[in-house]
Amino acid sequence: MTHNIESMDNVGRFWNESVGYIIYPETFKDGNGDGVGDLLGIISELDYLRDLGVNLLWICPIFSSPMDDNGYDVSDYMTINPMYGTNEDFKKLLDEAHKRGIRIIIDFVLNHTSDEHPWFKKALEDPNSEERSYYFFRKGRREGDKILPPNNWKGFFSTSVWKQIGDSDDFYFHIFSEKMPDVDWSNPKLRQRYFDTARHYLELGVDGFRLDAVAHLAKDTSFENSSLPCDENGLCYDTDRFSNRPELFDYLHEFKREVFSKYPCFTIGEVGGGISAEKSLLFSDRETGCIDEVFNFDTAWCNGAYGSIDKKDDEIKTDVLGLKRSLKHWYDTCHARADMPLYWCNHDHPRVLSQYGSTQYRAESAKALFTTLLFMYGTPFIYQGDEIGMSNVNYTRPEDFFRDVGNKNEVASLRARGYNDEQITHYLNRVSRVNARTPMQWTRGHEAGFTEGENKTNKINDNYLEGVNVLDEMNNPWSILNFYQYAIWKRRSPEINNLIQNSRFQFLDMNHPDVVAYMHEGSENLVVIASFRPYQTYFSFYWAVRDVLLHNYADVILQDHVFTLRPFECFLLKV
Ligand code: NOJ
Repeated sequence: MTHNIESMDNVGRFWNESVGYIIYPETFKDGNGDGVGDLLGIISELDYLRDLGVNLLWICPIFSSPMDDNGYDVSDYMTINPMYGTNEDFKKLLDEAHKRGIRIIIDFVLNHTSDEHPWFKKALEDPNSEERSYYFFRKGRREGDKILPPNNWKGFFSTSVWKQIGDSDDFYFHIFSEKMPDVDWSNPKLRQRYFDTARHYLELGVDGFRLDAVAHLAKDTSFENSSLPCDENGLCYDTDRFSNRPELFDYLHEFKREVFSKYPCFTIGEVGGGISAEKSLLFSDRETGCIDEVFNFDTAWCNGAYGSIDKKDDEIKTDVLGLKRSLKHWYDTCHARADMPLYWCNHDHPRVLSQYGSTQYRAESAKALFTTLLFMYGTPFIYQGDEIGMSNVNYTRPEDFFRDVGNKNEVASLRARGYNDEQITHYLNRVSRVNARTPMQWTRGHEAGFTEGENKTNKINDNYLEGVNVLDEMNNPWSILNFYQYAIWKRRSPEINNLIQNSRFQFLDMNHPDVVAYMHEGSENLVVIASFRPYQTYFSFYWAVRDVLLHNYADVILQDHVFTLRPFECFLLKV
């Protein structure tokens, strides 16, 4: 265990004192010159992360994997993926991070394994094995000469949830890619396997887990056909059949009882878009829940980009009212009973700067978005590269997105529906998760400073040559990066953190269609005002400004209690 490190604060619910940072290891930093990010690369940038001010890392999966879904298809939970390094490198990463006061939570994939995991291989080889009972195998439906899948459900990656085994009658169940068979959490032996794995990593010194796809651990095992409308292939996207079902809370309570409660660890589950704020408390209620926080996606698509292939660019506009309603609803419903994360995007979403900000106002909008997020109630998470204003790609063909199996399947399905490659590429440049998975841009030099070798991951975004890189940002006193650093320093000060955790919070002028503004009322009053528009707007303000703590323009225009807000202008004020 490496927990007793002098430089680490020793608070119980340490995530309430934390600013998190999400690392996508494949494209963060290459430490050995083979063209792919790795653990040595992360270690080499720990000083950068400490200086930025973050003290909690969520690292996307780093375990052995054939990389069908970039590591979310784990073939061995006990071994670091050789492309990322060794188990020794991982221990070194934990030690070096802890020395700098940075905690690490790892991405723990519980819903499925890779089809190359020894459990699954054994399950295929020997139908009488214990491992066979770890997965869902069912017989197909015979129709004449044909064998159809056991039911008509569609998974998250645009295919049937069933994969036929050779030409036999047997199928196995997978809600993501066909190389990711779902495991059966109703099986106590399977659960013990995962509990043992979690114990192993907690003993090693990890500070917790981001629990991948945790909402899906229980399924409707009647596997009856869905009666929802079907797509052109007769498949129904009926995610309730495998999301947030009651049994999963029993599994997680057992996990908490047997493992999580015995360690000073942080557990944050990905529950996606299918859960209400009310129901999320079943996961994260401080008294009665089973994990500490949940990530939902409700604030991720408030510009209508999701599924927007038929929309023109000017139809994609941030729905500021909808965004505020969603933030307010989650806050009102949860904050008294649960801790909550704050984040704009992760490795599964396009870049927030392209979604809600503007590349035309890169610095202004990056700062406004960050200020809005950082000072709300919750544990903020920054996604790698947002701190230098990274934005969506401008790829030229669908194949450029094929390192994402979800996109690859989606392209096939869109082509089958008659869309041409130009339309598909335009759409993926807007929504693909590859947008967030391009190499981190460190310098203007060779491969943007990501690797000394030849980049073997997604194509680098060319804008590193226009100053969107860490080095240029460091050298510019007014940069996004320097703003982030200063803002995080403010956010982590005990005075401001206490105010945020313990004051009365309210949104100001909920009906303003262009501005997000809120206030913490406590021993001091803290106000955030941020325009979400690339044009001038106005905001009425009735308090006396005592101090401007953060601002992204050189001067303030406040007359007769009205702020004139320039594009994406934002403030953090004491009033
Ligand atoms: C959620 C992860 O964030 C995503 O990247 C992955 O494809 C699915 N879960 C499947 O593990």
